[in-house]
Amino acid sequence: MDIFQQPEAMRAWAQDQRKRGTLIGLVPTMGFLHEGHASLMRLALQQADTVVVSVFVNPTQFAPNEDLAAYPRDFEHDVQLLKQEGVAAVFAPTPELMYPPGFQSEVQVKGLTSLLEGRTRPTHFAGVTTVVSKLFHIVQPDIACFGEKDFQQLAVIRRMVADLNMAVRIVGGPIIREPDGLAQSSRNTYLDAAGRTAGLSLFSSIRLAQKLYADGERRASVIVEAVRAHIQAVPLTRIDYAVLVNSETLEETATADEQTRLMLAVYIKDKVRLIDNALLAQSL
Ligand code: PAF
Repeated sequence: MDIFQQPEAMRAWAQDQRKRGTLIGLVPTMGFLHEGHASLMRLALQQADTVVVSVFVNPTQFAPNEDLAAYPRDFEHDVQLLKQEGVAAVFAPTPELMYPPGFQSEVQVKGLTSLLEGRTRPTHFAGVTTVVSKLFHIVQPDIACFGEKDFQQLAVIRRMVADLNMAVRIVGGPIIREPDGLAQSSRNTYLDAAGRTAGLSLFSSIRLAQKLYADGERRASVIVEAVRAHIQAVPLTRIDYAVLVNSETLEETATADEQTRLMLAVYIKDKVRLIDNALLAQSL
């Protein structure tokens, strides 16, 4: 497995692969890899000939009050997992290499980024779309895989790729959950035992919403109220948002249908912010 720090070296490797007709799959990550990332690597391997994984904790998608310094990192463990998954190359640049002195550009998707996460994290998505654009230019992938746990991020990246005619196919991978239902996330490491128990309220509220839908309830206000009451009854939780949206537009919906998705962001102990989502018409 090749490990590159320099963007030019990564690009030269990718160009060489492309000359040989090799289809490149990219899985962008911020490291501290878990089964959710591994499932994306497997998905990429099914659809491409070779897989590149980027490991980069991107500073521009963190606001000053967020957890950039504390964000978990374990590059040695990541390298073991990447080798096990048959990844061909890893791109692990430093912030200085990605944002050298004089850097002044930004890629921004409007509209979609002002909803949901964008209300609480107004600068987040510009950081994501800028770094993902850079990764696409450096790695030149034919496909790129992103997890559905960050459902809005996936929608924003699809929008950017369509709007800017980027020659990459975006593939979404399903949420990977712990046996008790907690969606896998590098940030779960911040949870102590009590916080982890509280964190399960996201999954149990998804199941509640799906049961209401399966039983015939279509009024979004009724489903959302039940979800909110369920989470609020769990100690140590504070809801940031709990809404039903259309899966395409991410706009709030008044009447649930098979496109309706429950989107959740919940603070645990006022410090760890967990997100989760699911289609109502699915059953977890
Ligand atoms: O989902 C993430 O881990 C990050 O937002 C991404 C896509 C790697 C960009 O830094």
